[in-house]
Amino acid sequence: MNNSEDIIILALESSCDDTSCAILKNNVLLSNITANQSVHKQYGGVVPELASRDHQKNIVPVVDAAVKAAGVKLSQISAIAFTRGPGLTGSLLVGISFAKSLALALGVPLIEVNHMQGHILAHFIAEETSPGVISLSAPEFPFLCLTVSGGHTQIVKVSGPLQTELLAETEDDAAGEAFDKAAKILGLPYPGGPLIDQYARQGQPARFKFPMPHLSSHNYSFSGIKTSFLYFIRDHLKENAAFVENNLPDICASYQHHLVSYLLKNLKAVARETGIRQIAIAGGVSANSGLREQLAAMGREENWRVYIPKFEYCTDNAAMIGITGYYKYRQQAFSDLKATPLARYHL
Ligand code: KG4
Ligand code: ZN
Repeated sequence: MNNSEDIIILALESSCDDTSCAILKNNVLLSNITANQSVHKQYGGVVPELASRDHQKNIVPVVDAAVKAAGVKLSQISAIAFTRGPGLTGSLLVGISFAKSLALALGVPLIEVNHMQGHILAHFIAEETSPGVISLSAPEFPFLCLTVSGGHTQIVKVSGPLQTELLAETEDDAAGEAFDKAAKILGLPYPGGPLIDQYARQGQPARFKFPMPHLSSHNYSFSGIKTSFLYFIRDHLKENAAFVENNLPDICASYQHHLVSYLLKNLKAVARETGIRQIAIAGGVSANSGLREQLAAMGREENWRVYIPKFEYCTDNAAMIGITGYYKYRQQAFSDLKATPLARYHL
């Protein structure tokens, strides 16, 4: 049953290559449906034009499925939340245009959401695990969030649901790109991050070494690591054409271990500096099993409370846009019909 004070949010996410729609009643997720695009695999990366065409194809069936799965009527919806950026302009446009049309048709407000804020607030998505039982395990404020995705690497201080302060950021590539580009060098399909993770499980993380960048703990840089990986593979292939084939698990385990150690080295420094011991991770790379394990171990050493999102809320999804929409609705932070996509959208 719905209480008239319940806030029902329909949320859309279309910033990259996943078309997703979620429905939330207050902070509780009712449905979350995502269509993944496989068209990009053969190109070794997301092709923006193909992504926007697929969003256009997927958005009506995805919204339809989410509304049906949630068991709500369109007339009950309080607001439409959408990802305004950062992301691919053509992909964002599909979600934004759809959100505007639906808001106009239903006579409800629009709420724009920053995708990176969404990744962080994924920790606040509550779920009904059995009838009447709501489950939520969210960090307390303030906490630090290491947000690692295909386009971003950030350490953010989160003092409230909508109060964020950027403490560290990458100067060049993102952590996800460091995984995906290495996978491409190894001849693996896009996105390579999950595949490196899979091979790494059978490999030895201490077998090969890579250089550690020497920057302040408030900056990340992955381009040097990626180049050293390229030379490492090239040099070994000169001596042994079957090097990759014969050593794939050890290569993946060593490279993953290196990236994760680097991510956590800065996180530890920033945590010590700020004295904050509530630590969370978010974004696609937070699905990485090596990161999850090494973070848990560091958390025990550093006496942290560690928060790791459920797998389905690590990679892109509309549930995280919906929870952010819910907090913005409570502040009446609405957008108007003039909202345009923001390819770059700072926290
Ligand atoms: O957050 P996300 O779904 O999309 C962006 O906002 O970019 O992140 C996608 C990134 C890709 O680079 C993908 O390879 C990486 O997350 N990723 C992983 C894993 N799962 C997804 N990287 C390493 N290990 C994983 N298990
Ligand atoms: Zn993302």
